[in-house]
Amino acid sequence: KGKAKKQAKGSSVSINQAAVLGAGIMGGGIAYQSAYKGTPIVMKDINQDALDLGMGEAAKLLGKKVKRGHMNMDKMVGVLGKIKPTLNDADVQSADIVVEAVVENPKVKKAVLSDLEKTLGDNAVLTSNTSTIRIDELATALEKPEKFCGMHFFNPVPKMPLVEVIRGEKTSEDTVNAVVDYALKLGKSPIVVNDCPGFFVNRVLFPYFAGFSKMVSEGISFAKIDKVMENVFGWPMGPAYLLDVVGIDTAFHCTGVMAEGFPERMARQEKDPVAVFAEAKRYGQKNGKGFYSYAPDRRGRLK
Ligand code: 3HC
Repeated sequence: KGKAKKQAKGSSVSINQAAVLGAGIMGGGIAYQSAYKGTPIVMKDINQDALDLGMGEAAKLLGKKVKRGHMNMDKMVGVLGKIKPTLNDADVQSADIVVEAVVENPKVKKAVLSDLEKTLGDNAVLTSNTSTIRIDELATALEKPEKFCGMHFFNPVPKMPLVEVIRGEKTSEDTVNAVVDYALKLGKSPIVVNDCPGFFVNRVLFPYFAGFSKMVSEGISFAKIDKVMENVFGWPMGPAYLLDVVGIDTAFHCTGVMAEGFPERMARQEKDPVAVFAEAKRYGQKNGKGFYSYAPDRRGRLK
């Protein structure tokens, strides 16, 4: 449709093997996308249930392609074979690029990234799929911050074209180029952005969520807000449904980081529905209940 095709940037790192840490919905989506576009990927988690969820996600996405006649069974098996689920750290060692996609908590991310850096080869590139945490903050845990940057995907990964590549103060140009090239290989549209809490998209999105939360805490029904935003305003998902897709636990962590980074715009409020639902473990699509309830395939909104 007349879209400009981005050129590969060229880097000294050639990416033949990827890894993703954290096999949630994001990890599973990233693994699917990488394997589908031809780069083998190791998906590592510390929890077998999460690995099963991530592999289930990838298999479901591929199954849909077979059912529609866009792929045959042999190809599907070939693509699935490019994803190696594992609980073992050693399986990540030979990756040329690693995408860390664990919980949105700076302490946990720093510990994971620091351990990871020690096991990777000298030339490997390390990235974080953090939604909001500054890259320079995460980089304080690393000995080679020049080999590190943000690689931020959007949910649902196979459907959302954008990837933010976040350049930290010490990130080298070679690292940025390698990550841009990998994003292009995944069929995504990368943009390179500078570092600050929330980067580009979440500086727009989270104040919008905060406005939504304020309306709900003032007594307006979330379903009504969604109805107006979807059916009348014309957006594909209203804010309540989008929070369920993003994950309310993730949104809660992100809101904390954004409130700290931009206190004047993002002050926490009383009866914030995101905080209330996170506390009640209503995490959205990922566990079947958030603002809405979901059928077992997690997609269908049951009103
Ligand atoms: N999860 C996974 N896949 C979904 C989905 C969901 N919640 N909702 C729809 N889809 C899939 C459908 O299964 C379908 O796949 P198929 O083509 O293979 O059958 C496809 O999307 C199209 O579905 P629809 O025809 O129902 O919907 P549209 O094509 O009109 O749009 C969409 C689908 C692109 C996902 C659209 O609803 C959209 O843009 N939603 C907003 C999503 C968004 O803004 N995501 C960013 C969240 S922020 C984030 O992730 C960052 C983090 O840091 C907070």
